Amino acid sequence: MRPRTRDRAIAATGLALLLGVSVIAGVRGTLVHSDALALARFEEAAEAHEASAAEAADAAGDYAAALELAVRTHDAGATAHAAADPALLADPSSLDGLGTALSALAEAAGLAVGADGRAATILAPTAELDASSPELPEGRAERVRASEDLDADAVALETRAATQRAAVARLDTASDDAEAALSALLGAAHAHGTAAALPELASAESRAVYSAAVAALADDAALADAAGRLAAYRDAWSAVTASQAAAEAARAAAEQAAEERARTAPPAGGESGGENVEPTYIQGILVVNKTYGLPRSFGNGLTSETIAAFEAMRAEAAAQGLDLYISSGFRSYDSQSAIYNRYVANEGRAGADRHSARPGHSEHQTGLTFDLNTIAESFGSTAEGQWVADNAHRFGFIVRYPPGKEAVTGYVWEPWHLRYLGVDTATAVHASGLSLEEYLGITSVYAE
Ligand code: DAL
Ligand code: ZN
Repeated sequence: MRPRTRDRAIAATGLALLLGVSVIAGVRGTLVHSDALALARFEEAAEAHEASAAEAADAAGDYAAALELAVRTHDAGATAHAAADPALLADPSSLDGLGTALSALAEAAGLAVGADGRAATILAPTAELDASSPELPEGRAERVRASEDLDADAVALETRAATQRAAVARLDTASDDAEAALSALLGAAHAHGTAAALPELASAESRAVYSAAVAALADDAALADAAGRLAAYRDAWSAVTASQAAAEAARAAAEQAAEERARTAPPAGGESGGENVEPTYIQGILVVNKTYGLPRSFGNGLTSETIAAFEAMRAEAAAQGLDLYISSGFRSYDSQSAIYNRYVANEGRAGADRHSARPGHSEHQTGLTFDLNTIAESFGSTAEGQWVADNAHRFGFIVRYPPGKEAVTGYVWEPWHLRYLGVDTATAVHASGLSLEEYLGITSVYAE
């Protein structure tokens, strides 16, 4: 080979080598670049997938909680619905309102409702999606493929989360509506219970239970044992009417016995309650106690002054969030007779005489007296009882039988029993700290 030819050959070989090296370097560069891209792509997809999975888990948690609340609300509503008596509601349509709200709640929650109206089953939520953290596969092509799978899973997770969030909103609204309807039902029962005139011969115990049951209906915690409270109210009403029926029967029997006695022995003249007993006024005050009686025919209801003064007192108390109502007002001679006789039958004459007046000797027959709220000593320590003790005189009333005065008034403490005297006299008696007997210097003792 000539030197020139050899040189060319060497140069060509060198060029070829150079080109070969460059090509290899180029290809390798491209490969390295592409692997880095695949890795970055995978990492980005994995990060987005992780965020979607976290959101999906969050939404699933909220969804489960909303479903649980829906079941609880539905059950509380359904049992209350079953326990409510339409006749004991101020607004019976509140029962239909609750029924409608419960149906809407069951539908929103996909609840299967049993024959008893209670939610039985939660329909299965949407199928599980793979939310686990992915492994980094080997190889560029595998990583690219895995990235695409992750993207698709992330979209599915986001879609499910959005669906569940929308369901949560629907469930929350339906639960709120059902709770509001339940609250309205309790309110309707409370309004009815507060306005109802209790039969006058029902026992003090049944009245006290009834008053407590009505008061419990006003409790703010609408869901807390709503059914139990409605059932207690319904049962208390039944007990009051049963007690009234028993008292009426006792009264009829007592009247029959009295007629029998009247046939065999004429009434003694001058006896308390006879028509020849005159009402007694001392310092212009009508006095009725164990010493001073009223004729049988006296009285026909609360006087208009007494009612107006009560109304003024009730309104001021209400403005301070206190609930005052008359649980026993005017009582005729015969009503008192039935009440007193029942106590005598239960506890004997001596026991009855400590807290119940004999017919013709009860202030309830004056039309100037009534009992407030719960006829139980515990009334004295309620906010209402304390307010009455401190303020009733401003409206013309005194707490007629104060604590610790049985020896002078003839009766144990009755924080609920108010007597109208007019504002001036009531204020003077209140300021004196005396009972009316002490204030007037009189006794309260039966003649026999
Ligand atoms: N409880 C009162 C004393 C009455 O029976 O009149
Ligand atoms: Zn009374």
